[in-house]
Amino acid sequence: MANGQFGMIGLGTMGRNFLLNVAEHGFSCVGYDLDDSKRQLLMKDGAGMPIDVGASVSEFLDKLASPKNVMMLVPAGPIVDSVINDLLPHLKEGDLIIDGGNSHFTDTERRQEMLAARGIAFLGVGVSGGEEGARHGASIMVGGDPVVWERVRPVLEAASAKVDGEPCAAHVGRGSAGHFVKMVHNGIEYAMMQLIAETFDLLQKGFQISDDKAAEMFEKWNHGDLNSFLIEITAIVLKKKDEDGKPLVDKILDTAQQKGTGKWTSEIALEFGVPIPTIDSAVSMRQISALKQERVAAAEKLGIAQNVQVDETLGPDVVHFVETGLHLAFIAAYAQGFSLLRVASVEKSYELHLAEIVKIWRGGCIIRSKLLDTIRAAFVADPDLPNLLVADNLRDTIRKEQNLLKATVKFALAADVPCMSFGSVLNYIKAYASDHLPANLIQAQRDLFGAHTYQRIDKDGTFHTADWETVQKTDITT
Ligand code: 6PG
Repeated sequence: MANGQFGMIGLGTMGRNFLLNVAEHGFSCVGYDLDDSKRQLLMKDGAGMPIDVGASVSEFLDKLASPKNVMMLVPAGPIVDSVINDLLPHLKEGDLIIDGGNSHFTDTERRQEMLAARGIAFLGVGVSGGEEGARHGASIMVGGDPVVWERVRPVLEAASAKVDGEPCAAHVGRGSAGHFVKMVHNGIEYAMMQLIAETFDLLQKGFQISDDKAAEMFEKWNHGDLNSFLIEITAIVLKKKDEDGKPLVDKILDTAQQKGTGKWTSEIALEFGVPIPTIDSAVSMRQISALKQERVAAAEKLGIAQNVQVDETLGPDVVHFVETGLHLAFIAAYAQGFSLLRVASVEKSYELHLAEIVKIWRGGCIIRSKLLDTIRAAFVADPDLPNLLVADNLRDTIRKEQNLLKATVKFALAADVPCMSFGSVLNYIKAYASDHLPANLIQAQRDLFGAHTYQRIDKDGTFHTADWETVQKTDITT
């Protein structure tokens, strides 16, 4: 009988969990996957819930009421196109496809256009929270036609996490905004993860703190200003022992993989001219980590030893520096992500509502944290805030914490522990808050070698100095 309200294609862990979540909220659901064992697993896990499956695409669609609402949770890339192609011959005008994977926003734009020409609605939706979020409440970032969003709003709001009774699902903007916002979420995720990794490195190598002690510290920090999902899971990871009773984390190969969303964030930020050095450095650090063989050879050849001599003058309070430094670094990671979203909203006519995005990032997603309450208040107070670093409600924190961030970076450098992302935060804040940068010299050089002109601080207009070379000509051949 064609009465299914919500369909799901792709019954891997994410798709199955999401559909179980929706069905648990009373919506009648139908699932489809090429793999019969996955269909059976859904039926088993969904026993007693309003769930059915289709053995083929057409049977699946026949079980859905019209106009049909079909979501897919399949790996981003060509598989999304192939699912759409399988669906197309069976769909009618007014039917809706929702892509809940981590698709690149330009793919979403292409698909939206192609489907619109056929009268099929398409929403590009970012879903964060992993398997647990999909099953018990995710953060859901919806992009596309707001009228179409209203149609599936009850289902997606029901499946989302709730914070203070507010659903963590929202229409964030038009076109490909849902996938763009999810991509930036992931860019921030990369930065926060790298900063936590650098903190761990500093504790382990710089302070010679055991993994158990480090786990205790992260646990404690999670009850303070750093309260967040990523700090919470770090404590859990550090406590886990291998079969021999030693920390499992120290047996894991130190090469981080990536599926691309962090790199995409850096690519588009470069294109839009938005500086996001902490996200960029986190992507670079994953890339450097992947060069394991080269790193081992370089370590041998260059023989740069780790200086484990702790600066005793810093005393036991030194770990507090690191906690505070990490807190400010998290602020900077969010600041960079939101500055990119602010520009993208204009460049891509997304009409993003930044406070609404913060609202739905407070629960369910990987970058959820206590800090987002402050950040939300900042955007509510001033929706046009150019950068979080100048938010009134963050001013005192930033002023106070930057010295401790500096101490953290200084300590890492003294201990020879790489701190690319921490360093980028310190320099980002210092540079952004500099009323003078040495870009005047760059302008002069450009004018000398290419007559690119410059502006002056003492008079209006555009200037070129024709006689730079009369001062001194350096012959590079001698
Ligand atoms: C989420 C995550 C998720 C992402 C993984 C792995 O919000 O649930 O961002 O979407 O796929 O974190 O990403 P990488 O493989 O790129 O680390």
